[in-house]
Amino acid sequence: MASPIPYGRQWIDDDDIAAVVECLRGDWLTQGPAVERFEQSLRDATGARHAVAVASGTAALHLAALAAGVGPGDIGLTSAITFTASANCVAYCGGDPHFIGIDPATGLMDISLLEARVRELANKGTPPKVIVPVDLAGQPADLPAVRRIADTVGALVIEDAAHSLGARYTHNNTTFRAGSCEHTDFAILSFHPVKHVTTAEGGAVLTNNPELATKLRDLRTHGIHRDPKRLTRPDEGPWYYEQASLGFHYRLSDMQCALGISQMKKLEAFVVRRNEIAARYDDAFAKAPFAGKIVPLKKTEHLNRNAYHLYVIRLMRQPGETLDAVAARRKALFLNLRERGIIPQVHYIPVPMQPYYRDKLGRLDDGSREYYASCLSIPMYPKMTDGDVARTIDTLAECINAGDNR
Ligand SMILES: Cc1ncc(COP(=O)(O)O)c(C=O)c1O
Repeated sequence: MASPIPYGRQWIDDDDIAAVVECLRGDWLTQGPAVERFEQSLRDATGARHAVAVASGTAALHLAALAAGVGPGDIGLTSAITFTASANCVAYCGGDPHFIGIDPATGLMDISLLEARVRELANKGTPPKVIVPVDLAGQPADLPAVRRIADTVGALVIEDAAHSLGARYTHNNTTFRAGSCEHTDFAILSFHPVKHVTTAEGGAVLTNNPELATKLRDLRTHGIHRDPKRLTRPDEGPWYYEQASLGFHYRLSDMQCALGISQMKKLEAFVVRRNEIAARYDDAFAKAPFAGKIVPLKKTEHLNRNAYHLYVIRLMRQPGETLDAVAARRKALFLNLRERGIIPQVHYIPVPMQPYYRDKLGRLDDGSREYYASCLSIPMYPKMTDGDVARTIDTLAECINAGDNR
């Protein structure tokens, strides 16, 4: 049997391996000169003025929430459909994540629900401190709208761009890059192997605000700094440093950044290839046997380029069909594909359904319920050959024709 095709995976070449080996033969293994070079490549790719490389996307979210000033009792809003880290960052700071419902067609935060929740919280005297929109699957959230709403209550905005490095959106006839922080205070990236570029584990916080960037750099390394202008005992000696805040050890190593620099040279080619694969899928799913049965995520009006971290399809609900019945068909399709060597995934289980959050939060919104019952991520990664894409489409067609997916 042909080898399985996963929903996502990294693409490491000999030049990536050589870059890591060169680092291993050099003087720096932990945070050294490669970190700054990697951060420069992130600034170049996104247009953000400051980049702070950290140990993971989760660490990036945690530091962004801390730098945003989230503290005990503060409310942070994020999308109900995301990886749990988008919410956990608020909880790490002692705050309470609240979940905003989504548009099931796009999987993105529903802006009218966000607006209503912000107004309701402001009226109660507990406006959110931070809003964390998520660029699900690689399509930017409506960041200008989130900015507008955040500004009504002075909330800071953290774009969770873990899925959208390389994506672009338009606003007032101008094109912006995901992660540029043109409409947000921070953006965060993840370099987990299924993401656009990898450092094995790794992440980064982006910002255009120099004070926030300094805060992030301090927090990345225990709250310690050596900035002579800020030292309380600047003449102590060359060994001297001060811990001015309570930070963490969230640094990314030079070895990982060496891999990241090498990977970033290929970001554009990777995103182009992801778009080529998506175009093939889009074409196939517009025709028999898929039309009327499955549908890809809808593209927003403000989308300029999708970064396609994931390619998500949804099983279309048939007239009179219950959500439980759709969910049962999705499960059957998942199992059938997996048995035939196509390994799908579900992105995501709504975070408010997780036991840790469920009991505190009550009811799940209808959009997330509908989305979750019907979504499936099919293989999408740049190393997929045209043959792999054709095999995925053919296998999906066999499953659909087999009838259990109607
Ligand atoms: C939307 C989103 N945010 C944050 C993260 C956290 O990134 P990391 O795994 O690098 O900690 C992920 C990781 O999968 C993610 O998908």
